Amino acid sequence: MNQESLSKMTESTTSRLILVSNRLPLQLVEEDDKVTIKQSDGGLVTALKSYFEEESTKGTFQQKIWVGAADFPEKRWLKLDQNNSDFKVEPLFMDKKIYNKYYNGFCNATIWPLFHYVPSYVVYDQDFFENYELANQLFADHLLKIIKPGDTIWIHDYQLFLVPGLIREKMPEATIGFFLHIPFPSFEIFRLLHRPWKEKIIRGLLGADLIGFHTHEYVQHFLKSVRMVMGYDHQYRVIAFENRIVKADLFPLGIDFKRFNSSTKRPAVLEARNSILKNFPKKKIIFSVDRLDYTKGVTHRLSGYERFLTLHPEWLEKVVFILVVVPSRQIISKYNERRKLIEEQVGSINGKYSTLSWQPIIYRYSQIDFDELCALYQTADVALITPLRDGMNLVAKEYVACAVHQGVLILSELAGAANELGEALQVNPMDANEVASAIHQALTMPLAEQLYKLNSMQKRLSDYDVVSWVNDFLNQLLEVKNQQHSEERKYVTSSIRKEIVRNFRQAKTRNLLLDYDGTLVPFARYPREAMPDKNLLKLLATLGSDTRNNLTIISGRDASILAEWFKDVPVNLVAEHGAVIKRVQQDWTLEREIDQSWKPLLRPTLEMFTKRSPRSFIEEKNHTLAWHYRNVEPELGFIRSRELLDSLFHLIRNGQLQVIDGNKVIEIRAAGIDKGVAAKKLIDETNSDFILVVGDDKTDEDMFRSLADRALTIKVGPGHSSAKYSVSNQMEIIKLLHDFAE
Ligand code: UDP
Ligand code: G6P
Repeated sequence: MNQESLSKMTESTTSRLILVSNRLPLQLVEEDDKVTIKQSDGGLVTALKSYFEEESTKGTFQQKIWVGAADFPEKRWLKLDQNNSDFKVEPLFMDKKIYNKYYNGFCNATIWPLFHYVPSYVVYDQDFFENYELANQLFADHLLKIIKPGDTIWIHDYQLFLVPGLIREKMPEATIGFFLHIPFPSFEIFRLLHRPWKEKIIRGLLGADLIGFHTHEYVQHFLKSVRMVMGYDHQYRVIAFENRIVKADLFPLGIDFKRFNSSTKRPAVLEARNSILKNFPKKKIIFSVDRLDYTKGVTHRLSGYERFLTLHPEWLEKVVFILVVVPSRQIISKYNERRKLIEEQVGSINGKYSTLSWQPIIYRYSQIDFDELCALYQTADVALITPLRDGMNLVAKEYVACAVHQGVLILSELAGAANELGEALQVNPMDANEVASAIHQALTMPLAEQLYKLNSMQKRLSDYDVVSWVNDFLNQLLEVKNQQHSEERKYVTSSIRKEIVRNFRQAKTRNLLLDYDGTLVPFARYPREAMPDKNLLKLLATLGSDTRNNLTIISGRDASILAEWFKDVPVNLVAEHGAVIKRVQQDWTLEREIDQSWKPLLRPTLEMFTKRSPRSFIEEKNHTLAWHYRNVEPELGFIRSRELLDSLFHLIRNGQLQVIDGNKVIEIRAAGIDKGVAAKKLIDETNSDFILVVGDDKTDEDMFRSLADRALTIKVGPGHSSAKYSVSNQMEIIKLLHDFAE
């Protein structure tokens, strides 16, 4: 979908876009009683600000609002005239002590190093976390004063993990997107956080409708953490969470390609460019710019450059490395230390190699403005961008967009951008030899090859620029919302429940067919443990003893266990998905002769999978073999179950058997027997004017389908179903049955 379709989808509402990030796009400077604005640094601000200012996006939303933490006093803010801005800024003024423990503490001394795979730098401090919670709550409270129904709320980055959940609590209907600008690490790293922190972070994120990441890998890591921490599985990146579906997907952040690419035409850029060229005549220029951050790999980069100078002395005095480091998070000790390390290393290399007329590194520790940045991108023969980890890295993309005449990008394979910039010379940033040899290769690359690579990358960056990125995200957010609404239509609301109860009471005879596991009781670790409690048995006995009711438990369980559990309850029992049926006060009847000869042939395969998947087990019933993997480590269980399905597909070819891919179980049984056939048979035996069928699993879908035109069908739990209605858990079914029994 494009900008136009997004406009169409939003025009019918009074839609406003509310963007939320910790960092506001502006810093305020006060001089001689006059307040002026300076742009903030970092990828998040650069990208989002250019979307907010982009001409083509004007009119898409009725209003755009940016909410963020103010790092300036309120009185300075009040002096500023905001009327000319493309968007409204709603700063949150936070107590300094809270902000410090939140921002310098949990955000940048805990999450930042951990999510960038530097666990040795992580500070685990409960007080930091509590202030993070507090700051997130303050953000949520501030937002709740601003948000109106119909608004689209888009929350950004790791500083605000808890905000989606906090907003959702107060506004269940809100449209909330979340985007993470840093990597989401593998579960082995994420699990290092204290358990309550992990749970609160995942729960907070699941408050959003759509959660975006830069790469496929980060999405997978997140989904695994959701499964490991909260036990929620996903289907094609969609998680069913508390009555709502939440989607996680990848949206690689783009840049304002046109702005960077056309900067060549700006007189100020041209002037800056000429002055750089004049300062370094006949020299090849290597360039890098990063915020001061240990994740950016500046010290490793310097080692690579030094190795290059050692291995290739022919380049001495012919090359210069312009290294710009932008001040960032200076209060945190690891940042300050990094600055010292960089400066010592620059001094050491310059001391070792400089001559009276040449210095190998030009080092600058300051912000640079847009024109100078573009001029540097354009004059650089090589951009050396080698972070040790980076969510995306926009500098790499900006360089490619600006390098219109020539240029080679050397890029760390550990930056998210490496996925899209395949033509760059990709390096392992830790390996000084590899960096040195890439520098040599870049400096000697023929111009035609440089241009060919640049053009391919430029095409990609211009096709998926920041505007496409925003549109892509917001369109998907709308789609998730639509999907949620279509699923909601099926929920048994209180008025639908009342209607069902009324129909039940008015009916002269009723047929109730209830699945057991997952419908009347939750799943347990082992099937034997999921036995009915006294209350459930009493409820079923009350319903079953009413002569107007024909009550049936229809299950995949074997006959003996159903008979044992329900021996004192007047219910029909259907076991093994309909292979045998026991009508009230009668004996079990075998529905048809079933061939058992297949079992010894397939059992060894199941046994092999059981050995290879710790905590899985085989359940052998009279007519069925079931392989349970509920207790296996989830990722392994899923993979093994797919492998087993594949093996069974090759082993079972004659159509006599069928394989069911159930809820954490794979069952093999004779073809032609299913709950649909059994349910229909029982219904046909009685003449009732109210038929209710309830189930939760794939095998229950057979009943839903076969009785679609005669029965009221209800699915328990999330997921697609042929049932007319759905409820979120067993409790709601029990409640309904209690209403029947009253
Ligand atoms: N940048 C900046 N101030 C400067 C120099 C650069 O804000 O003095 C911008 C640069 O143009 C880029 C962003 O900072 O858009 C850095 O984004 P990146 O994704 O590379 O790294 P981050 O700083 O977000 O970790
Ligand atoms: C990265 C983070 C952003 C952050 C930026 C600058 O890009 O993902 O959330 O705003 O760095 O860092 P700062 O701490 O100054 O906001």
